[in-house]
Amino acid sequence: MKICGCARAPLKTLSVVKEFKLIDGRVVAEKVYAELRGEIARLQSLGTTPGLAVVLVGDDPASRAYVRAKDKMCRELGLHSVKLELPNDTTQSDLLARVDELNRDPAIHGILVQSPPPPQIDEGAIVRALDPAKDVDGFHPLNIAKLALGDASGFVPCTPLGCLRLLQESGVTTSGAHVVVLGRSMIVGKPLALLLMQKGVDATVTVVHSRTRNLAEITRSADVVIAAIGQAGFVRREHVRDGAVVIDVGINRVDDTTSPRGYRLVGDVAFEEVAPNTSAITPVPGGVGPMTIAMLMANTVKAAGAPAN
Ligand code: GUN
Repeated sequence: MKICGCARAPLKTLSVVKEFKLIDGRVVAEKVYAELRGEIARLQSLGTTPGLAVVLVGDDPASRAYVRAKDKMCRELGLHSVKLELPNDTTQSDLLARVDELNRDPAIHGILVQSPPPPQIDEGAIVRALDPAKDVDGFHPLNIAKLALGDASGFVPCTPLGCLRLLQESGVTTSGAHVVVLGRSMIVGKPLALLLMQKGVDATVTVVHSRTRNLAEITRSADVVIAAIGQAGFVRREHVRDGAVVIDVGINRVDDTTSPRGYRLVGDVAFEEVAPNTSAITPVPGGVGPMTIAMLMANTVKAAGAPAN
């Protein structure tokens, strides 16, 4: 964990200097990879190389970048990686046929279809067509049900898993803590709420979203705020009480003419304004993002080592 001491701007007549902890997702991800390397070597000695297939339909630049990063990490860990890039006009039946092939391929233990797909694709039907034992995204109804039931044999979505691991590695006590999750998506908000309220994690969870009344009042009562609302800089100083922990799941591209790429990545939290008031906070980039990929690798290794394989 990297500790970053930062001077806090004077607040009214007070002139206190506060320090917050910068939760470094890259450092925690490296710890996950160190653990995984041992398990990968064990599986390989038994004749199994974990294999992940990542399917991208279309040419959305952000999705392309995520898929590249996943493929690169597989290779770094010595996993078998298949990157399937399909044209934007791929039909539902074409995609279902590809999923079926991957379901039956014994060298593939995990399958991920990058979201969001183009509009002609019925994403729910694609997810339901996945073999739940290869659904390393944890989006299949069976895996969501297992998460709700507390059955550890299922797959938990990667970003929620990454958020929890960041909290645990940062020494944040979740038991009895009030965690407010901003956002109710199927990828983050809903599964994260289920994960955090599980026995053993034991948080008291509130989910707020775009229609919530008195949102700031609720987030201000949180020990931990997790922002997954998909709006750059949505969480401001007034949303966070002094000393709270803030996890920023957002990855938003905002125009930046000073950057060679023409944009920069920012989170859902107005970092400069919020950070000095927190006890710990994740940056964007370098916070939750690296953990999502680490947990995808962990789920793939779990899939390869599961008894059915
Ligand atoms: N798009 C953004 N995050 C994710 C993710 O975790 N899984 C998939 N399949 N698509 C995504």
